[in-house]
Amino acid sequence: MTILVTGGAGFIGGNFIHYMMKKYPDYRIICVDCLTYAGNLETLEPVMENKNFKFYKVNITDRTAIDKVFSEERPDIVVNFAAESHVDRSIENPEVFLMTNIIGTQVLMDASRKYQVTRYHQVSTDEVYGDLPLDRPDLFFTETTPIHTSSPYSASKAAADLLVQAYYRTFQLPVTISRCSNNYGPYHFPEKLIPLMIANALNDKPLPVYGTGENVRDWLYVEDHCRAIDLIIHKGKVGEIYNIGGHNEMKNIDIVKIIVHALGKSEDLITFVSDRAGHDMRYAIDPTKIHRELGWLPETKFQDGIKKTIQWYLDHKEWWERIINGEYKHYYERMYGDR
Ligand code: NAD
Ligand code: TYD
Repeated sequence: MTILVTGGAGFIGGNFIHYMMKKYPDYRIICVDCLTYAGNLETLEPVMENKNFKFYKVNITDRTAIDKVFSEERPDIVVNFAAESHVDRSIENPEVFLMTNIIGTQVLMDASRKYQVTRYHQVSTDEVYGDLPLDRPDLFFTETTPIHTSSPYSASKAAADLLVQAYYRTFQLPVTISRCSNNYGPYHFPEKLIPLMIANALNDKPLPVYGTGENVRDWLYVEDHCRAIDLIIHKGKVGEIYNIGGHNEMKNIDIVKIIVHALGKSEDLITFVSDRAGHDMRYAIDPTKIHRELGWLPETKFQDGIKKTIQWYLDHKEWWERIINGEYKHYYERMYGDR
């Protein structure tokens, strides 16, 4: 079995590669990643020397290079994690989101058709459903909730999902789509809420909470997401969408306070800053379908997952310090400098 994983030098793709190589030592895993600011080869260092692993520094929008990888490696399954993934950056510059997230998906699906893969899996997001009001805790996203996007990021992911469904209907490409809630865990790039707050708190820097901090996200430990994708690519039904989430809704401000207390810091570090444009209020997944059809349930409780995550950042300071002291510094200045 050969699985081609795109975006494997990023947060979830990297965790997925570690998970799969441990669980299926006989599988060949081919990683395609062009190493944007969010891609980090250090994440893949533990598997780099494994004879069943191969890395290609290729952009998924590069049709010729992608064709060459497919023709050389002949993957059975493709799992597409590669994406521009940060909402704030999509507000700053939408263009690259459309290129990677939409055109990149098309290029991968064209190659998947040509080389007749048995499964093309699109890693999507619950953000394609837009948001839910805070005063309706009875509402959840199901797979039939209409697409209703808010940011250029979520719009680009939704466009890709529609294209994936079109390739299924029109060309019978054997596709599946998963839409997961917010992930957290090791190797998470420190521009996202949880790792940013851990890194800032450890450096006694202000903790920038957007708006009032009342926004709700549904947090899932990254390994539970990886396990769900493993189940979908092996046992999921072609043409289907699966929502992934663990009913773990939390307000941003509460997450930040948990991190502050776990690190023994003062809540005085918390700084309320101007809100994100178009900021989604609440995400909440109904995971009934994947539970019923594939038996998936989350295994890591938030209180354990956040402890493990904080410990990982304490143990791997060099991984994130290199990031926050590099080019990312300029982004941080632009985003938070006079906010
Ligand atoms: P990430 O930003 O950490 O990693 C993205 C990876 O893709 C990086 O290694 C980057 O170098 C690579 N990449 C970007 N553009 C590329 C291109 N044109 N060609 C090749 N490689 C390219 O993202 P993540 O958080 O790991 O998210 C992975 C996927 O999961 C994305 O599709 C995202 O939409 C989806 N998702 C993320 C979350 C979350 O909470 N992070 C939740 C649900 C779904
Ligand atoms: P983020 O990690 O960017 O994920 P997403 O926007 O895809 O859900 O943000 C999670 C939540 O945290 C979101 O409501 C925005 C908020 N947030 C802050 O309050 N401060 C920050 O510095 C960041 C990065 C996010």
